[in-house]
Amino acid sequence: MAIDQTLTIRRPDDWHVHLRDGAVLAGVTPYTARQFARAIVMPNLSPPVTSVEAARAYRERVLAAVPEGMDFTPLMTCYLTDSIRADEVARGHAEGVFTAAKLYPAHATTGSAHGVTDIANIMPVLERMAAIGMPLLVHGEVTDHNVDIFDREAVFIERTLAPLVARLPELRVVFEHITTRQAVEFVESAGDNVGSTITPQHLHINRNAMLVGGIRPHAYCLPVAKREERQLAQPKAATSGSAKYFLGTDSAPHAVSAKESACGCAGLFNAPFALESYAAVFEEEGALDKFEAFASENGPRFYRLPLNEGTVTLDRAELEVPATIDANGTPIVPFHAGETLRWKLRA
Ligand code: NCD
Ligand code: ZN
Repeated sequence: MAIDQTLTIRRPDDWHVHLRDGAVLAGVTPYTARQFARAIVMPNLSPPVTSVEAARAYRERVLAAVPEGMDFTPLMTCYLTDSIRADEVARGHAEGVFTAAKLYPAHATTGSAHGVTDIANIMPVLERMAAIGMPLLVHGEVTDHNVDIFDREAVFIERTLAPLVARLPELRVVFEHITTRQAVEFVESAGDNVGSTITPQHLHINRNAMLVGGIRPHAYCLPVAKREERQLAQPKAATSGSAKYFLGTDSAPHAVSAKESACGCAGLFNAPFALESYAAVFEEEGALDKFEAFASENGPRFYRLPLNEGTVTLDRAELEVPATIDANGTPIVPFHAGETLRWKLRA
């Protein structure tokens, strides 16, 4: 890898993205397809993607949104519900439709109303996934009203994730979008069957970004950004060179009107400049030599998929992030809106 005025790495993948549906799907997909060879596409549509048939149809809609001439492969996921059948999940995996299955604790986040109310309800599904080597992707937050929102990830580890990993040691688990020191400690202490995605926002911001000088809805996502002391574990982990951490943007676009509201939606649209955003953190940490592993190698190795052929290049150049982006008729504020980034993906 050459480091200097240019940064060239193997083509990367995004192991966690929300592409939505309908007109917005067509508006946001090109941004992801421009940056990444493949992406794990989240199933929290309305209604959620809970069958092989629905995932196949959604995959077709995603592919139809990829601009002519771009080479991009969406990897689909199954939304786990209390009543989903192990046979359906396993069949989707065997047929190459479901790359993985996603666990949303019910009401933990956007589009999780149909999620799992008690992990005991899906134990037969998880046992089957462990047996066939199908990855479980976890939104790791408890929904208990008595637990402070800033503690929900740490409490989830204690109450749900650690017991699950102990009970099913063969299960391959991605602890998604980690935000705390406790999550890093858990991932470190677990076996190679546990990996983790880290978002650009959780590398860059702590909760001040959301709360200082006024309430800033465009910095609000779930899991919510934590206090500085906890958040700093994320850049260290991502840039450590450990194979357990990989790129997953959790790009989650919402219309400006849905964010700037008395009850604003959680989710941050970082797809347009995701690589540039990550590169800034790796550079600040003096770890640009670890960027390629995080962006392009650790993810496919965890998922047991081939590494991509080809490369992408970022140039050292000023990149002005626009205040809003028009996603096929829906205005969306991107992460880093109005800021200048110092790397730019070559077209
Ligand atoms: C996601 C969304 O909007 O779909 N929002 C978010 O804040 N990350 C859901 C999720 O991944 O939690
Ligand atoms: Zn997400």
